Amino acid sequence: MLDFAVQTAREAGHILAERFGRVTEVSHKGEINLVTEADLASERFIIERIKSYYPRHAILAEESGASVERGSDYVWIVDPLDGTTNYAHGYPVFAVSIALEYRGEIVLGVVYDPMRDELFAAERGAGATLNGRRVRVSDVEDLSKAMLCTGFPYDVRERGELIGHFRNFIMTAQAVRRDGSAALDLAYVACGRFDGFWEEGLNPWDVAAGVLLVEEAGGRVTDYAGHPFSSYYAPVLASNGLIHEAMMRVLAPT
Ligand code: IPD
Ligand code: CA
Ligand code: CA
Repeated sequence: MLDFAVQTAREAGHILAERFGRVTEVSHKGEINLVTEADLASERFIIERIKSYYPRHAILAEESGASVERGSDYVWIVDPLDGTTNYAHGYPVFAVSIALEYRGEIVLGVVYDPMRDELFAAERGAGATLNGRRVRVSDVEDLSKAMLCTGFPYDVRERGELIGHFRNFIMTAQAVRRDGSAALDLAYVACGRFDGFWEEGLNPWDVAAGVLLVEEAGGRVTDYAGHPFSSYYAPVLASNGLIHEAMMRVLAPT
């Protein structure tokens, strides 16, 4: 099934790459939450493929929601285009994210960046790879030497308190980025480009694949208080493990 997910993510990525830079139709799901024709074309393609290869599996996809195959042990969790705002502005940072859940546990995850032809994949218990090569989280131990990444939910304008964490990390870490694709941000933690990532208000399709990538690359993923992470709720804190406690201290309520 990993090969199926890899192939599907690659082909969906090509759909995005072909249309990149010539977005004509953008609609708004909220004041700053967009959807383009590329999101829809990629999702249609992925859903059709899952339905033809695994007709009994359930699907949870961002633009169409949950499918009706209730009672299935398998659920495919799909973000057909993570980084839509980047995409709509011609900023080449976006990805396809596909994960498979079996009886409530994520067992495989794939994140594909068609602009760099980078395919991140993980299977539970089998490690994480980038274009077939094994990857590991970084070995940075000190928050002051760490390069972090974060993101903001679409309702950030109503939730000014989120800016507080951003400010606190700017004051303590070496650098903080906001790249606009949670799936890629997590993949970058998995391969050591970022040392840590935090964000709240994410949906299962943003994080399901990326969280498995980080865990399988030797990192740690929890909520802000160090509790086990669930993709169906909650803030996510993902790191190389070594700076996790330090990041928790910065995120602790005051
Ligand atoms: C968004 C991206 C972004 C994050 C938002 C997500 P979308 O997903 O992952 O980085 O900050 O919270 O909603 O809408 O581009 O698929
Ligand atoms: Ca997303
Ligand atoms: Ca999306």
